[in-house]
Amino acid sequence: MLKANPDYLKLQGSYLFSTIAKKVAAYKEANPDKTVISLGIGDVTQPLSPSIVKALHTAVDEMAVKETFRGYAPDLGYDFLRKAIAENDYRSRGCDIADDEIFVSDGAKSDSGNIQEIFAPDCIVAVCDPVYPVYVDSNVMAGRTGTYDKASEQWSDVVYMPCTAENDFVPDFPEKTPDIIYICSPNNPTGTAMKKADLQKWVDYANEHHSVIIYDAAYEAYISEDDVPHSVFECSGARTCAIEIHSFSKNAGFTGVRLGYTVVPKDLKDTDGVALHGLWARRHGTKFNGAPYIQQRAGEAVYSAQGIAETKALVAYYMENAKTMRKALKDMGYTIYGGVNAPYIWLKTPDNMKSWDFFDMLLEKASVVGTPGSGFGPSGEGYFRLTAFGTHENTAEAVKRIAGNV
Ligand code: MLT
Repeated sequence: MLKANPDYLKLQGSYLFSTIAKKVAAYKEANPDKTVISLGIGDVTQPLSPSIVKALHTAVDEMAVKETFRGYAPDLGYDFLRKAIAENDYRSRGCDIADDEIFVSDGAKSDSGNIQEIFAPDCIVAVCDPVYPVYVDSNVMAGRTGTYDKASEQWSDVVYMPCTAENDFVPDFPEKTPDIIYICSPNNPTGTAMKKADLQKWVDYANEHHSVIIYDAAYEAYISEDDVPHSVFECSGARTCAIEIHSFSKNAGFTGVRLGYTVVPKDLKDTDGVALHGLWARRHGTKFNGAPYIQQRAGEAVYSAQGIAETKALVAYYMENAKTMRKALKDMGYTIYGGVNAPYIWLKTPDNMKSWDFFDMLLEKASVVGTPGSGFGPSGEGYFRLTAFGTHENTAEAVKRIAGNV
């Protein structure tokens, strides 16, 4: 009997950003005279940097020549890129990570959705709330949730750890001990970042309870403060309790190129002593044929002297937008968070307005698109996210429209 996967059927509605895209498309159709500014999905707007474009061209040219043509990439990544990552993102920061603990992939979204596959179905999952929806949805799809409680709008087996202004957006330890703990810092969506001392407490907790931290460091390049760690592996003991996921999308603008990586230390074992490194390697080998050579050469170029300088300039460009929004919104009387170590502004909706109502109002009155906080989880209700990934012109125009019309 053919039947759809019942775990998929537990998911409510469509993926958050697909829902927003549909609403915006309908608005555009009904208002063809309006120019919509999108500060919703965190997609970059600046073109690829010259060093990246050069590396892409060179790699394409190599593919056109018999002697340098390449077929399937190694499923775990080319050595040249794994080495560049381990050197630049870890060893140069004093983190003890070997080249072969890096798994190159087609992006952080895939890795953060797929990594749950190496854990048992009955593992208890804890997420910060609000949360990047992929963590919860991918666990629901894998059957790692039981019943949906309509009143609280929560899946019973996912432990939500509220992160609000009241706890400075740092989760408290949950009552129910989780096996898998997702932490994203700098955080999507709140734009806030954990201090090293707070992260160290979570690493200690995970080691003590034999939990694993899945640490999403996609926004690491945006850190501007000294006491905020760039990697979980800056914390002592992280090699026995943490997996880290990285992206080239937000720092080097690879949202359309696709490249990311995950670090699984060889010291990380389950309660029976099974090394998770081998399981993730097995998963890659079975379900993935390696990120394309051309993209991996582009990734390598991100770590060249020119690439590093250009990436810094890109990050500075977007953080200028964050500054513009922070100042303008504060002047308008909004309570805002984030935008210092991350390219997201997290604002409190006026008069506790529901997040989706604020979304509709912003779209109707200012033709500006943002992301409703409740789309990221129950504790996101009453908040709203704006991304700093727009152009300078659009960002300035968006805040002008909000000031004038909302
Ligand atoms: C977001 O807007 O939250 C992100 O861009 C989504 C993503 O990176 O997949």
